[in-house]
Amino acid sequence: MIGAAGATGPGPDPGGDVDESNVAVEPSRFTPDLLAGRVALVTGGATGIGKEICRVLGAHGSAVVMASRKQEQLEAAVAELSAEGIDASFGVCDVRDAEAVRAVVDGVVAERGALDIVVNNAAGNFPAPMSAISPNGFKAVVDIDLLGTYNVTKASFEARMRERGGSIVNISAPFEQRGVVYQAHVAAAKSGVDSLTRTCAVEWGPYGIRVNAIAPGSMLGTEGLKRFAEAVPGGVPQKPSNPLGRHGHGSDIAYLALFLCSPMARFVSGQVIAVDGAGSVDMLRLGAGPI
Ligand code: COA
Repeated sequence: MIGAAGATGPGPDPGGDVDESNVAVEPSRFTPDLLAGRVALVTGGATGIGKEICRVLGAHGSAVVMASRKQEQLEAAVAELSAEGIDASFGVCDVRDAEAVRAVVDGVVAERGALDIVVNNAAGNFPAPMSAISPNGFKAVVDIDLLGTYNVTKASFEARMRERGGSIVNISAPFEQRGVVYQAHVAAAKSGVDSLTRTCAVEWGPYGIRVNAIAPGSMLGTEGLKRFAEAVPGGVPQKPSNPLGRHGHGSDIAYLALFLCSPMARFVSGQVIAVDGAGSVDMLRLGAGPI
């Protein structure tokens, strides 16, 4: 069986402390060759959820190319995943820079001879109330999250997917049609990503391209949760407030990405799927327990 990072073990997580070790990783039951011969590009792939996505796609046969701004982090992640037997490499770019993105995407196609999977995971975030977000701060987040997704998606379509099809997965947030405190910029940007997901799925279905999004809830060990804990007065609640009563691990996102990129999801496109313990559909948040 293939495993992702962290401790392994079955059964529900009890929630409780905000501590990465309290989330057990479910070992994979997908076949190790599910993505054999595929080439994946994962933005923001050197850290956090992105690295877990690289690990899981790679452990199921895909070559993975990580892209981000920081070469040092990319080199460390490639070394880590290579040591696990994964065919990993990297390209340096800021997703806000369309030309730099194009160079990385063209490089992947030239060097790897393919580009079958794109995961738009790179994101910027700083928790702040609307009253404290400057025009430049708002723009920085929208440019990374929404324009960056556009840049990578468009370049991948033009470089390869228009001819050969493929699967695109956008990492979004379960914020659409909600008010989200401290996240005016992120919620606006990610709602745009959800919209782009649906439009690309509609326009590019005829090219054999499937486009879906994953909206993660509260994820342990991520930069986003850390920044939130620091920024919000009193910190974030220790006990997760979603109905399943647990935090997520990067592998929870990665396994859905794996399914969505696999032939088993050949009829799935244009969907935004929350992975959040039902938090985003829990209207009353009563925490009623097993009634
Ligand atoms: N509160 C208010 N404004 C903030 C802020 C904060 N905590 N952090 C950054 N900003 C503002 C800056 O003041 C600046 O605006 P200004 O020119 O009006 O002063 C603007 O955001 C851009 O900041 P800068 O640091 O120059 O941008 P950057 O492109 O280097 O960084 C960010 C982008 C701001 C999104 C940064 O938080 C980042 O790189 N995050 C990536 C990591 C991350 O967030 N991961 C989690 C994803 S869920």
